[in-house]
Amino acid sequence: MPRIGAMPRKLFVTTALPYANGPFHIGHIMEYVQADTWVRFQRMQGHEVHFVCADDAHGAPIMIAAEKAGLTPQQFVAGIAAGRKPCLDGFHIAFDHWHSTDAPENHALAQGIYRALRANDLVEVRSVEQFYDPQKGMFLPDRFIKGECPNCGAKDQYGDNCEVCGAVYAPTDLKNPVSALTGATPVLRTSEHFFFRLSDPRCVAFLEEWTQDGRLQPEVANKVREWFKRDAQGKAGLGDWDISRDAPYFGIQIPEAPGKYFYVWLDAPIGYLASLQHWLAKQGVDMDAYLADPEVEQIHFIGKDIVTFHTLFWPATLKFSGRKVPDRIFVHGFLTVNNGEKMSKSRGTGIDPLRYLELGLDAEWLRYYIAAKLNARVEDIDFNPEDFVARVNSDLVGKYVNIASRAAGFLAKRFGNQLSADLGVEGRVLLDGLRAHADTIRQLYEEREFGKALREVMLLADRVNEHVDRHKPWELAKRPEMDAALQDVCSVCIEAFRVLTIYLKPVLPALAAKVEAFLQVPPLQWADARHALRAHRIGAYSHLMQRAEAKQLDALFEPPAPPALEPVRPGGEALAEEIGIADFSKIDLRLARIVAAERVEGSTKLLRLTLDVGEERLRNVFSGIASAYKPEQLVGKLTVMVANLAPRKMKFGVSEGMVLAASHADEKSHAGLYVLEAGPGALPGLRVR
Ligand code: MSP
Ligand code: ZN
Repeated sequence: MPRIGAMPRKLFVTTALPYANGPFHIGHIMEYVQADTWVRFQRMQGHEVHFVCADDAHGAPIMIAAEKAGLTPQQFVAGIAAGRKPCLDGFHIAFDHWHSTDAPENHALAQGIYRALRANDLVEVRSVEQFYDPQKGMFLPDRFIKGECPNCGAKDQYGDNCEVCGAVYAPTDLKNPVSALTGATPVLRTSEHFFFRLSDPRCVAFLEEWTQDGRLQPEVANKVREWFKRDAQGKAGLGDWDISRDAPYFGIQIPEAPGKYFYVWLDAPIGYLASLQHWLAKQGVDMDAYLADPEVEQIHFIGKDIVTFHTLFWPATLKFSGRKVPDRIFVHGFLTVNNGEKMSKSRGTGIDPLRYLELGLDAEWLRYYIAAKLNARVEDIDFNPEDFVARVNSDLVGKYVNIASRAAGFLAKRFGNQLSADLGVEGRVLLDGLRAHADTIRQLYEEREFGKALREVMLLADRVNEHVDRHKPWELAKRPEMDAALQDVCSVCIEAFRVLTIYLKPVLPALAAKVEAFLQVPPLQWADARHALRAHRIGAYSHLMQRAEAKQLDALFEPPAPPALEPVRPGGEALAEEIGIADFSKIDLRLARIVAAERVEGSTKLLRLTLDVGEERLRNVFSGIASAYKPEQLVGKLTVMVANLAPRKMKFGVSEGMVLAASHADEKSHAGLYVLEAGPGALPGLRVR
């Protein structure tokens, strides 16, 4: 439990590992802002934090998405991972390390943990009947089976629940099921699955204690208590957990079980440890030794949709493999956009975080806005553009940033940026009042009551502005005999601004860095609120933060402009996706002499061509141009072919390449088909580039 004391705490903090099937959406950023703010706050207290994350790389959906993209799962995941950094940096999310659940550390850890569970007699093998796609040759995850809802009859529903009537069922309950991958009718097949026996009395006893001892938020603990009475299918008690999947699967192999892989949710949280291990190893620290220290607090920030995994499966996995269990699970609600229009996990409708940055909106506006709405409960928060502009402009800029700009000009012009040594009684009282709030605000940050913490800070900012309004530096400036008073008021402003900056720094790290440069002070720590900055010379003031404009927010919600090159072409076909020269050069185009051409018996479309490509042999190519050319029209022509296309076995024989022809997108409605030809003098085998 959180101990506030003199000793630096040792914190191991993570956020959920995002699926590597797509880029970040604004919901991810919300989770990172919450965790990052908390981590920065802890570091300002002088505590030691290891803050890590990773891509959740495994699972059937990623495997299938990769296949569609024509990539290996590893390539696909690498592409997603490469896009992470600009977004994280852009929003000042300061993970120490970003790893992948497909990294070697995770394979080793997952297999080791599994072996320990098995040695502890908690793994059981059982036969499971499941839908199998005979065409694809794989067992189908629930999400890849569609059919009619057994409850209301709605067509085209997924295998786990009906989006029309909300019924929850097993895929085998669907009427007229089809594989979403191939359209084939799935067949039932049995296969051996590995189960983690969570129903074992040892697991139940441990989890009843672990989930109810005060480490979870009260509403989370209550919800979890329900699950001890019923499992997800409504059966009494904790059900055993199916932790295996059959090949083909992108995942980690189960030791001593060929063709079996860990279900992605077994190895995903282990990725927390893999990331930590990699990060610590870089500093020569052994992870097991680090985690053996009873002082270490292990904390996971997650969203409300993945509570079961983190409050049952994950602690049990750790406990019964002889490892440290999590100390806290901090659960947050969902970010919705514009009054609850639910953010889709896969599509992430609403706001694209990268676009937010590309449009030049200030990352710290969003950090401030999110933090101002967050509390320690599992509540959804709503992103509303009007509210966003109002809060940023009236609070952040209008109340806080304004304090510095009101004082900086006079200090520069009249006092060479020198602060007064003595601030006057009233000023000191004001500042002492500000300092006295350090503990309250610290407590609020500690408890993740960021909204309340920021409200406190803004009330303090109000006090400072009232002080300025009472003393009217702009009037003092007109009376030379009031020089000292003017310098004092401005110095009070700057000192107040410094204290408020400390209180805001966990939320606004980049702005705080600008303030540190302006004030010419080392990086601000929480304890720096206690002492005054006196007779100090500050640096030149430069503008700290822009106001937000409604039209910038409008731009964010406009659908992004279509890619530049999409106008419809004369052929009736839009341009294909842009490629680089490297992509093009992969295609080896050669001039080919058509030596012979003949009809193919049994086909009205195909002609068999014999081609001379300047090699020692001739090539056999089938070409779908019979509707446009008689064989004799083609013989002797010098045309263009794709010479490095993998040979393809067809009904009539093997085709060793492809002849190029121009055609309309819709060949049926336009007869036109034009084989390409090279001009006189060209020779077979020349490369086309
Ligand atoms: N890969 C799993 C987590 C594995 S953790 C060992 C996963 N990935 S996710 O990409 O779908 O979600 C990652 C995190 O983002 C989760 O904590 C999830 O709750 C959170 N959010 C997803 N959508 C969200 C919002 N709209 N708002 C706030 N957080 C949301 O689940
Ligand atoms: Zn239904």
